[in-house]
Amino acid sequence: MFPKWTNRLPTMLLVGVLGGLLTVIGVVWYTFTPKFWRVGYMPTQPGSGFSHQIHAGKLGLDCRYCHSNVETSAEANIPTVSTCVGCHAEGHVNDQLFAKAENVQFIRDAWAKDESIEWRRVHKLPDYVRNFPHNIHVKAGVSCFSCHGNIMEQPVVHEVEPLSMGWCLECHRDPSPHLVPQDQVTNLAWVRSQISKLNDHGAPTGEFTGNPRAGGDPKDPTNPETPGGEALLRALAEKEGDLHILPTNCGACHY
Ligand code: HEC
Ligand code: HEC
Ligand code: HEC
Ligand code: HEC
Ligand code: HEC
Repeated sequence: MFPKWTNRLPTMLLVGVLGGLLTVIGVVWYTFTPKFWRVGYMPTQPGSGFSHQIHAGKLGLDCRYCHSNVETSAEANIPTVSTCVGCHAEGHVNDQLFAKAENVQFIRDAWAKDESIEWRRVHKLPDYVRNFPHNIHVKAGVSCFSCHGNIMEQPVVHEVEPLSMGWCLECHRDPSPHLVPQDQVTNLAWVRSQISKLNDHGAPTGEFTGNPRAGGDPKDPTNPETPGGEALLRALAEKEGDLHILPTNCGACHY
């Protein structure tokens, strides 16, 4: 009644449907994973943890007090216990007035045993991304704010950007909205107020404007009223010595 090949029809249909499903799952996975699953990633930290809201926000410590090599090393560093002990050794920061003794005991224990605190890594690129020179970005005038968000408001560090390839490339194609004078890169409150859209009450929304708000002479990158954009990009391109490139070729990041 039917030609012979139709016997295979159910199998073909099944294979087709399965293939289709896999493709859909693949696409959904690819598009949504970083955005919805990784953004917000916040592992539980040892002891009573570490609050950037207290240390960088309330106490106003500069990021480089602890992340001392962000300008010099291709990988950022996490401070050692000795940095904490500088303030949290017994009798330094007043336990009655400030930090509760039981909350900082894990620091003193680690110090006494000469152990390090095993902070859990939050931001981590896959191994096949072989080249991400952290320092070059900081030196170029990309603020911590652009990639890590407003850390000063985070009681617990978490990812605010997807760290996906699309994210890298989007900035490389048009970095100007993210460039600020190099001496302001760790001044997150200032950066936020400069490069973020303001709401009706004049408060930053956290949403980037296409163009940094420029006051003063936009050609003068050292003018604190001129947060960046084109002028800083030009200044970057004109810098002598190092080769300044914003790569989009595969080899630059993957070899
Ligand atoms: C008093 C020391 C100290 C200061 C100041 C400080 N940090 Fe940290 N930072 C730490 C410690 C300790 C960790 C590891 C624990 C954690 O992830 O919460 C950390 C973790 C981080 C991480 C996550 C690292 C990862 O695992 O991916 C980022 C991003 C970061 N800090 C950015 C900043 C920025 C930006 C500033 C300045 C606004 C800053 N930090 C100021 C001590 C500090
Ligand atoms: C410059 C001095 C200074 C350094 C360096 C410092 N802290 Fe603190 N820390 C403080 C002060 C002051 C407080 C109390 C602030 C407050 O509650 O207003 C505090 C609070 C804390 C608390 C909260 C305690 C509580 O009762 O909630 C923890 C936990 C802590 N620090 C861990 C760390 C760790 C871990 C490091 C090293 C990466 C570190 N601190 C480095 C000054 C410092
Ligand atoms: C261009 C984006 C970008 C900028 C700007 C940037 N970071 Fe990062 N940061 C990253 C990425 C991506 C990682 C993960 C790197 C990896 O896995 O190799 C990271 C990792 C870190 C880590 C974790 C290092 C570790 O070994 O656990 C710390 C701490 C950190 N950044 C702090 C800072 C501070 C402080 C600033 C500002 C001075 C800053 N970052 C500016 C993108 C950025
Ligand atoms: C918010 C903006 C921004 C983001 C996000 C960003 N970059 Fe960049 N990147 C820059 C700028 C600006 C430069 C140019 C630095 C210079 O010329 O000094 C640069 C340069 C580079 C370079 C070339 C360094 C050199 O030797 O000249 C590499 C490699 C690189 N980025 C990798 C990455 C990777 C991988 C990511 C994503 C994980 C990333 N970047 C995300 C702004 C960004
Ligand atoms: C500016 C740096 C940068 C450049 C240039 C770049 N990549 Fe990537 N690539 C990344 C990062 C970062 C990831 C990791 C994405 C993640 O973890 O979600 C990635 C992931 C990938 C993956 C894994 C699948 C995925 O998307 O998650 C492949 C395949 C890939 N890149 C191929 C390429 C090819 C081909 C090119 C050239 C057309 C290229 N990359 C250029 C940074 C870059």
